[in-house]
Amino acid sequence: MAAYIPDDKILSIKNASDIVDIISESVALRRTGRNFVGLCPFHAEKTPSFTVSPDKQIFYCFGCGAGGNIFSFVMKHEGLSFPEAARSLARRYGIDLPTRNLSPHEKKKLTEREMILTLNKEAMAFYQDCLIRKPAGRHGMAYLLKRGMNKSTIEDYKLGFAPEGWDHLLRYIRSRKKPLDLALKAGLIIPRKSGSGFYDRFRNRITFPIFDGQNQLLGFGGRVMDDALPKYLNSPDTPVYNKSHSLYGLHCARQQCRKTRTVYVVEGYFDLLAMHQFGMQNTVATLGTALTASHVQMLKGYVGSQGKAILVYDSDQAGVKAAQRSVTVFQKGLLEARILVLPKGHDPDSFLMAHGPEKFLLAAEKAMHMMTFMVETAVEKYGLGIDGKVRIVNDLKSALLAIDDPVARSLQVKYLAERIDVKESAILQKVRQPIQNRTRLPDDHRQKRGTNATPVRGETYRLEQKMVTMMLQFPEMVEVIAQRQLMDNFTDPLLADVGRGIIENLGKAGGDVASLLSQWDEPERKAAVARLCLADEHWDRSGCMNLINQFENSTRRRDNVLLKRIQAAEKNGDQDLLAELLKQKQHQALERMGKKGGH
Ligand code: UTP
Ligand code: MN
Repeated sequence: MAAYIPDDKILSIKNASDIVDIISESVALRRTGRNFVGLCPFHAEKTPSFTVSPDKQIFYCFGCGAGGNIFSFVMKHEGLSFPEAARSLARRYGIDLPTRNLSPHEKKKLTEREMILTLNKEAMAFYQDCLIRKPAGRHGMAYLLKRGMNKSTIEDYKLGFAPEGWDHLLRYIRSRKKPLDLALKAGLIIPRKSGSGFYDRFRNRITFPIFDGQNQLLGFGGRVMDDALPKYLNSPDTPVYNKSHSLYGLHCARQQCRKTRTVYVVEGYFDLLAMHQFGMQNTVATLGTALTASHVQMLKGYVGSQGKAILVYDSDQAGVKAAQRSVTVFQKGLLEARILVLPKGHDPDSFLMAHGPEKFLLAAEKAMHMMTFMVETAVEKYGLGIDGKVRIVNDLKSALLAIDDPVARSLQVKYLAERIDVKESAILQKVRQPIQNRTRLPDDHRQKRGTNATPVRGETYRLEQKMVTMMLQFPEMVEVIAQRQLMDNFTDPLLADVGRGIIENLGKAGGDVASLLSQWDEPERKAAVARLCLADEHWDRSGCMNLINQFENSTRRRDNVLLKRIQAAEKNGDQDLLAELLKQKQHQALERMGKKGGH
């Protein structure tokens, strides 16, 4: 794991950072006793089951099972690797990490992701230089100015220009001694169809770097300056760029989103730039793709669960379609969304340039609720004749069904009934479907787990879990448990493993739960530990000794039960069962011996 970030630096990050600080940047936390709770950023929920412990510097969601320390949180929340998460935290807390002068060994450890991110930055610098300083870029600058972009927008969004010709960036990359296969993976160059070699992806285009919320450069968009096609070209999906997880303008939107609890969602690059330039920095752009569940969770992190998104779409058919498609995504993601349909022929960019921001804000105040918008578009489309009403209800059925909250759903049904003058009960009949047909939230692990055939875990598991909880919450007992070698009697392999980790780690000087967690790569294990740490239990020495005795008794009882069953099988002459039971016994014995010998 990230050997090139030295251990002492990891320790400095741990000491300097605070998990409550970091998490409250994206989740509204409320104190309850020793912990904080909030709405989980990793799944859709209405009652907070996401818990953060300032004492232990860990988090755990009792709803979806996500959990870990500060590094795990940043990794999961921002979609980063461990070294990236460590770097991002180091940046925030002003801890210097070695960047250049890596040893060859350390260099090898630099992940491909990080190398692509760095190469993207170099490409961006090249394009910016072209736009601002090179004669070849004058053309591009003229275009941007003609579209009303000012110097600070061009600067803030690091716009650039990819010059005309096949190999300007290619030669630059070569001159910087960067491997071309990396540039290929980054989507910056394309292999020639005939023969060997490569050529630049972006040629004679304005370039728009696409960042994530951490200021990491994921990819680019590029626009032609005339009517050539395609009008826009984007980076392909790469190890760092995935259009269903990326939003343009995210890196500049966070602060104002949090302040206003509102985010505008627009479709295009210039729409976003115009919004920014007219003072509405709380805007992101979807770049011509449908809004995904992952986008909605990201936005929710920015505006908070009480916040809202305002979708600003063109009034053209495609814009309306896109808005309709996103209705369900927002309903499932439990984020309030409204729709602002601009006057015919306008997109946000052209509207702002023509009418200014005051008019825009006025229109935004009147943005329709999702459902109202759906009903109105359907009414417009089908009319209010008998046939039309039937079609309207049919069209809205799936959107109504997607509303999980029964109260919210019944209010919407009522609204629809009144608007099109149809009996509520008739609509309800169409909307009431057998529960099992309802689509499940893709990221709601709680529901998934319920349907999975996980074995029912009995008393033994409960006891073992309690033992590990005790070791985590009352570390004084770790020594006793280690001496009695109780881990060897555990039946659950994960719990036994966690227990051994605790014995090895918590005994050491400076050993704490957060550092225990950073030793493991598997998220399930981290989550299991975080969950047990936060279990609400009170321990004292005699209670602990009781538990240990109980555990030892139950181990003995289990052995006895097996013995009794063996005797019974012998008596009944059931050879098959006997063989099976003897095998179990032998297995148990071997396992214990093996473990005692090995450890
Ligand atoms: P539009 O065609 O609505 O263009 O595409 P626009 O944003 O108004 O662009 P301007 O104002 O003419 O410059 C909306 C978005 O869809 C994506 C782009 O992200 C664009 O901003 N798109 C569009 C593409 O990816 N490729 C295309 O060829 C066209
Ligand atoms: Mn436009």
